[in-house]
Amino acid sequence: MTAATPAPLLEVRDLHVEFRTRDGIAKAVNGVNYRVAEGETLAVLGESGSGKSVTAQAVMGILDMPPGRITGGEIVFQGRDLLQLREDERQKVRGREMAMIFQDALSALNPVLSVGEQLGEMFVVHRGMSRKDAKNKAVELMDRVRIPAARERVGQFPHQFSGGMRQRIMIAMALALEPSLIIADEPTTALDVTVQAQVMDLLAELRRELDMGLILITHDLGVVADVADKIAVMYAGRIVESAPVHDIYKAPAHPYTKGLLESIPRLDQKGQELYAIKGLPPNLVRIPPGCAFHPRCPLARDVCRTDVPPLYDVPDGRGSACHFWQEALHG
Ligand SMILES: Nc1ncnc2c1ncn2[C@@H]1O[C@H](COP(=O)(O)OP(=O)(O)O)[C@@H](O)[C@H]1O
Ligand code: SF4
Ligand SMILES: [Mg+2]
Repeated sequence: MTAATPAPLLEVRDLHVEFRTRDGIAKAVNGVNYRVAEGETLAVLGESGSGKSVTAQAVMGILDMPPGRITGGEIVFQGRDLLQLREDERQKVRGREMAMIFQDALSALNPVLSVGEQLGEMFVVHRGMSRKDAKNKAVELMDRVRIPAARERVGQFPHQFSGGMRQRIMIAMALALEPSLIIADEPTTALDVTVQAQVMDLLAELRRELDMGLILITHDLGVVADVADKIAVMYAGRIVESAPVHDIYKAPAHPYTKGLLESIPRLDQKGQELYAIKGLPPNLVRIPPGCAFHPRCPLARDVCRTDVPPLYDVPDGRGSACHFWQEALHG
């Protein structure tokens, strides 16, 4: 390790998660490795069902168990393996040290409490603050996430806010105790395009201001270019490509990433049919042998059907789980 490499805040090592389902064991996460340093943003990308949320839930300690089960790996956060902690120790980490922002603010917020009460509750419970001080803190937080007229609106209920404003409230909840890591799981998916961009800008601004680690889960490569430092692309529960964000846009080293990039709608291609990766994501009860992507891959050949590609080293600190990454990179 060189002096330039910041100590990781979070390091997920060889994580495995499976679910017992009616059809058999669904292998949702199959050896995921990623790290996030202080102040760094990692974007996790991949189609629906690739294991992005399950990995995040395992990190947060909110995995649905059963039917879920962590069958291997480590989640090292601030130097401790979270999987070795007792539930009460784990609970202390959650909220204070790491917090999560979900896609659907309306179901994550309590409909019968004002937003001020919900925000204030964090300070009452965790910091032992008086109700009055907690309310002032709530207003401060609402200001911080740029909700106009915060003091006038602090007594309103979640349904009185627009979708974008509700998402800001959820971001405020996550920020309340100044955690060192925030996981945002598709935080803008439910919003319309203009509002998506505003919420994403806010996240980018906040993480710069607060120097926190951010894991941004999304299936939309279009939104991450300005926010993320690096990208991990997931397919069938594995990281298939990892790279600094700009490298990936310039030249993906995995055919799946290439497909994702070519699926981004571009203004200059109006009217043209959008490239979409052919076929469907695999059934996780029966993941294809060899490279899981082979049934959909334009570069696939015999070895791909039998040999699982490791994450090959690609120059400049990148990684690609493709036997033919050089071809993908230069082709
Ligand atoms: N609560 C659950 N019960 C059973 N299977 C689940 C559950 N949560 C996730 N899975 C399985 O894990 C897979 C990956 O899920 P997820 O991580 O949510 O995907 P995404 O990449 O879209 O976030 C799902 O396709 C499903 O097979
Ligand atoms: S290993 Fe083979 S099937 Fe998998 S992505 Fe590379 S070329 Fe395609
Ligand atoms: Mg998800």
